[in-house]
Amino acid sequence: MLNLILFGPPGSGKGTQAEKLVAKYRLLHISTGDLFRYEMSHNTELGLLAKSYIAKGELVPDAVTIGMLRKRVEANPDVKGYIFDGFPRTVPQAEALDKLLVEKHQTISALVELTVDEDEIVKRILLRGKNSGRSDDNDESIVRKRIQVYRKETTPVADYYGQFGKSLTVEGIGSIEGIFKKLCKTIDNHVGRKA
Ligand code: C5P
Ligand code: MG
Repeated sequence: MLNLILFGPPGSGKGTQAEKLVAKYRLLHISTGDLFRYEMSHNTELGLLAKSYIAKGELVPDAVTIGMLRKRVEANPDVKGYIFDGFPRTVPQAEALDKLLVEKHQTISALVELTVDEDEIVKRILLRGKNSGRSDDNDESIVRKRIQVYRKETTPVADYYGQFGKSLTVEGIGSIEGIFKKLCKTIDNHVGRKA
């Protein structure tokens, strides 16, 4: 199985690249941001709770996010692997994910980080906000807050997987196709080396 974490700040192209990776490696794409947006669009209890954090650019509490993720993984046991997009966002989420995978006799193959500098990210997100209908993409102060939360709470996740030699980086600047090629090469090299 190939279990990947697609990592990087908001607006680094995780969703775009995840779709392409899914098609190539036949993995199940799990985007916790998309799952929250689905719940919010249906005004579920979980959606309303998530909205109160997302609207401020803050993280939904770990227990809520981990519970939602676990449900999604357990509902899809017969897959060739998972691609986690936007999760884990904190070290406790990473520890919970590892525990869940151990129960399934699996492990994370690699965390691949898309690196993009802050000015470029803000530009991309505000542009996306014009069409996405995402209110958290439309307000520059919320966007900056999300980046700040990413730096403080989420970047330690890359160091966490780095301890196990599983953290990889790819520059997330350039054409979608060019970045995809670099991603595939980096993943294939890593998996090949380990085999
Ligand atoms: O992953 P994405 O950028 O689409 O997530 C949008 C928002 O959803 C985040 O800014 C955050 O408020 C929330 N979120 C979260 N925990 C996650 C994933 C997303 O709190 N693991
Ligand atoms: Mg996304």
